[in-house]
Amino acid sequence: MKKTDLFVGNWKMHGDLAQLSEFMHSLAEVHLNSDCEIVICPPSPLFAEFNNLCADSVFILGGQDCHFVDKGAYTGDISPKLLSDFNCKYVIIGHSERRMYHHEHDEIVAKKVKAAVANDLVPILCVGETFNERESQQYRRVIAEQISKGLALLSGGEELVIAYEPVWAIGTGKIPSALDVAEVCDIITETIELIGFGSVQEGIRVLYGGSVNDENVFELNQVDLLSGYLIGSASLDPSKFTNIINSKIS
Ligand code: PGA
Repeated sequence: MKKTDLFVGNWKMHGDLAQLSEFMHSLAEVHLNSDCEIVICPPSPLFAEFNNLCADSVFILGGQDCHFVDKGAYTGDISPKLLSDFNCKYVIIGHSERRMYHHEHDEIVAKKVKAAVANDLVPILCVGETFNERESQQYRRVIAEQISKGLALLSGGEELVIAYEPVWAIGTGKIPSALDVAEVCDIITETIELIGFGSVQEGIRVLYGGSVNDENVFELNQVDLLSGYLIGSASLDPSKFTNIINSKIS
C-alpha cells in the first residue's frame, strides 16, 4: 500500500509574524499536490499565529524539538504536552543541529521520542552521518545505531517517521546520489526489522533531508522507499517549497 507523502518545512530559527502571514497567504493561492501531508515547523513563538492563519486549512503544524518531560524547571525548553496543546501533529527529534549545539546524544533522543509518542505526537527521528563517517565507511553502523538507540524506549507499532539527513548535506548545497539515498533506505529498513518493529513498508515513513531544492528533488524522487522530504532553507521560499511538494504529483 502506498503511504501518504510527507513534506516537512523546518524553518529552524528563521521567520517572524509578517513572514509567516505572507508565506501562508502565498501557499493558499497556489494549486498544491492534494495527495500528501504538508507540515510547517516554525519557531514555537509563531504557533499561535500559525493556528490563527491555518484554521480549516490543509497545513499541519510541527515542532522542531521537545523536552522529554511534560513540565519542570527547564528554562527555555519546550514541553511535548504544550506542542500537543497547540495542535502540533509532528515533532522533529534528534536533528543534527540539536545533537551538535545542544549535545543531545542517543539516550536523550530516545527519551524525547518516547515523550512525543506519549503526547500523541508523531516523532520525526533524524539520523545521518558526518562527512568523516561517510568517508571512513562508518555510515552504515552510525545510522543503524542512531535508529536502534533512538527507538529503544518504544515498543513497536507506533506511527513514526525517520528522516535521513547526512550532516554534510545540511545547508551545504550538496546531496547524496539517489543510489546512496536508496542504500541508506535499505539500512533503515533492515535496522527497523532487526529491532522487531515490523517493516518500513508497514507503518514507518522515511524522508530525506539536506539541501533539498526544487531542482535536485527530481533525482531524489527516483528513490522508491522515500515518502517525502525534510526541507530547511527551501521551505522558507513559498515558490521553491510549492515546487518541491508538486514534484511528486503522479
Ligand atoms: P537544509 O536543511 O534543507 O537547509 O539543508 C535541512 C534540515 O536541516 O532539516
